[in-house]
Amino acid sequence: MPDSRPTESDPPEIEDIGSNPDPRQTLAELVERRLSRRAALRGLGGAAAAATLADQLVAGAEPALAQVAPVQGGPSTLAFRELAQGMAQRDAVAEGYEIQMVIRWGDPVLPEAPAFDPARLTAEGQARQFGYNNDYLDYFPLPRGSRSSERGLLCVNHEYTNTNLMFAGIGEGRAARGRTTREQAAVEIEAHGMSVVEVRKEAGTWRAVAGGPLNRRITMNTPMRLSGPAAGHPRLRTNADPTGTRVLGTLNNCAGGNTPWGTVITAEENFNGYFGGAAAETGPEAATYRRYGVAREATYAWGRHFERFNLDREPNEPNRFGWIVEFDPYDPNSVPVKRTALGRFKHEGATHAVGADGRVAFYSGDDERFEYLYKFVTARPWNPNDAAANRDLLDEGTLFVARFEEAGRMRWLPLVFGEGPLTAANGFNSQADVLIETRRAADLLGATPMDRPEDVETNPMNGRVYVMLTNNSRRTAQQVNPVNPRAANMHGHILEVIPPGAGSDRVDHAAVEARWEIFIMAGKPGVDAGARYHRATSNDGWFSCPDNIAFDSKGRAWISTDGAPENAGIADGIWAADTAGYGRALPRLFYRAPTGAEVCGPRFTPDDRTLFLAIQHPGEDPGSTFERPSTRWPDFVEGAPPRPSVIAIVKRDGGEIGS
Ligand code: FEO
Ligand code: CA
Ligand code: CA
Repeated sequence: MPDSRPTESDPPEIEDIGSNPDPRQTLAELVERRLSRRAALRGLGGAAAAATLADQLVAGAEPALAQVAPVQGGPSTLAFRELAQGMAQRDAVAEGYEIQMVIRWGDPVLPEAPAFDPARLTAEGQARQFGYNNDYLDYFPLPRGSRSSERGLLCVNHEYTNTNLMFAGIGEGRAARGRTTREQAAVEIEAHGMSVVEVRKEAGTWRAVAGGPLNRRITMNTPMRLSGPAAGHPRLRTNADPTGTRVLGTLNNCAGGNTPWGTVITAEENFNGYFGGAAAETGPEAATYRRYGVAREATYAWGRHFERFNLDREPNEPNRFGWIVEFDPYDPNSVPVKRTALGRFKHEGATHAVGADGRVAFYSGDDERFEYLYKFVTARPWNPNDAAANRDLLDEGTLFVARFEEAGRMRWLPLVFGEGPLTAANGFNSQADVLIETRRAADLLGATPMDRPEDVETNPMNGRVYVMLTNNSRRTAQQVNPVNPRAANMHGHILEVIPPGAGSDRVDHAAVEARWEIFIMAGKPGVDAGARYHRATSNDGWFSCPDNIAFDSKGRAWISTDGAPENAGIADGIWAADTAGYGRALPRLFYRAPTGAEVCGPRFTPDDRTLFLAIQHPGEDPGSTFERPSTRWPDFVEGAPPRPSVIAIVKRDGGEIGS
């Protein structure tokens, strides 16, 4: 969801409700640290002093990467002709490329799904159709174990609903979510979750296979299991589930990831806005709910119609959300598992990197202003030859939170019950408590409050971990620090965490220390204070609000944005940039979204010849309604609403994207 301001008639975004009450690092602390860092750098000599872009940004110097003069066509390895920025009802892609529609909200997924009819939405129909607001998407080749780039399973999150664009007569804005009837709320509940859909490329054109044998809908009503240290804890028990181990559904699934053993990871993000009741303020979990933004007034009306969303009936239900969920996409009967060992917060996603010793790290951002960056490291290496050995690998391991230090250093702090402040003296009686209250545990350890950590992905070519920090308009001048160096950060930045061994074939993703650099400070160069890119960046190459990132097999970054319309007056889109060589940090605009939409995914097929994109919330503009939406993308049928959709981008000559 973009960083937009609530109006009088419109409630705040769900992620605006909770907030870290104590974002540390005052100006006095910072000045003191800077002075001591400079003294340290003088002692180390010039080479160390020039070590990180972050240092230069804080010192206000020109970044080292801006040393290459632009040449004919520029120094980027990305060969496409750049698109012009702009805002339009239709989307656009660079010349020589083609946009193909794969699947839209309401299209059939399961057998006997009804045809999409926006005038007659039903919960039963929606449970068989593609859900709303596609965010994370992944591509799993078919058959399993192959590297097919022409047949596979798309796994797609359905994060939330634009209620105002789904139902006639319900009015505009986020306030529409509070006005749904029981029937409409039931449709919304089935429009959340995930879809697994077979896709095929035939004669150069992608299509979804309606009713494919492995197709699946996961919704807020799908039975799931809780596992790991918090499973079964009394704080996870409800009237419907006295065991604390079984839960219906998954909510607000934003980004995601996958595992080396072939399962999908989906992340529960802004779960707070679905639950409401007086118990948010007066019940036994009130302090925890305040820290997570669960409030008396829910954003959605579900609690008026269904008891489990009413805290006065089920005070523990929100504790069963905010987790990472894993399932096998190749088995439509597999039971999704909420892996509590990975912690509970507003998980943007969780993406893996295999360390030198075979243990697997999962990096995950907590997407809210002043929240933290985490990683989980499995206790054991994964075993490529023994599927059973990997089945519950995510139940055992260590969760860490990031503390960034001066001079491009950072440390991963373990969230382990009994260690440091995580004891009964601070209200933690078990590892389950540490995980259920991950945010408070991280507060006590002194983690660094960040500018909304969104997607975190490892670049397989250089072993660096890229953290999308989308924006933080509320950071004050007193709260800046070297890793979040801009006050009122409207445009966000991209951070590189550099584990030991990065750049070699033995990257230590399990290490507790790493280095860091800032890759790009977003915003318009010369206009927005602090914006930093390659010197040759064009008038169309700058961007705002990075959200997701993917790497092609050459290690180039494909960055998607969410919030550029509100924060920079341009459409969201995809910008591609080299991460190494002369074109490092020189983005070029490749795809431009229709008005109101953010761009999610992105995901390449193994051959780099298809780029799948999830186009989320088209028409999410001020004043937009079902009757008068700001766009009717993608169908442009009079009277029909816009439809969140997954598209495929291919090169007209069949070549690799970006070649
Ligand atoms: Fe759902 Fe953090 O974006
Ligand atoms: Ca988003
Ligand atoms: Ca996101």
